[in-house]
Amino acid sequence: MKQNPKPKIVITYGTFDILHYGHIRLLERAKALGDRLYVGLSTDEFCAQEKNKRPFYGYDFRKEMLEALRCVDQVFPEETWQQKANDVKKYHTDIVVMGSDWAGSDRFEYLKNICKVKYLSRTPDISTTEIKKRLGKNK
Ligand code: CTP
Repeated sequence: MKQNPKPKIVITYGTFDILHYGHIRLLERAKALGDRLYVGLSTDEFCAQEKNKRPFYGYDFRKEMLEALRCVDQVFPEETWQQKANDVKKYHTDIVVMGSDWAGSDRFEYLKNICKVKYLSRTPDISTTEIKKRLGKNK
């Protein structure tokens, strides 16, 4: 009997705070590159300590929203920059996908030794930072 081929696993990372259509497009395009999409979601502590960000929504709410999306199969915590090689092995990952703002970054390039790394173009004119700025002006 023919065995089912291993599903193609895609991982992406990010904060995904105040979920917006730029995030959704990135996630849908990432999912289209494989069979399952896993998201390494930056924890609140990682955001504060390493990304100099304080998310509007805490980790559990951001996770809940991502898990509600059809294209996302699993969400796990991103707690360090160094965990990625381990994640790739642990989840038998085929491709790590990031937005083009990360293209060529040392944080991801070395993963090319163990899987594919693909940078997708960002959706223009939208970001969490931009939403926060615009809402601030609407008061
Ligand atoms: N992303 C994208 N297009 C956008 C915004 C984000 O493709 N317009 C992608 C990023 O490149 C990244 C992922 O979505 O791969 C998560 O990005 P994140 O930093 O969480 O979102 P931003 O909106 O960029 O947040 P911030 O303004 O806080 O940097």
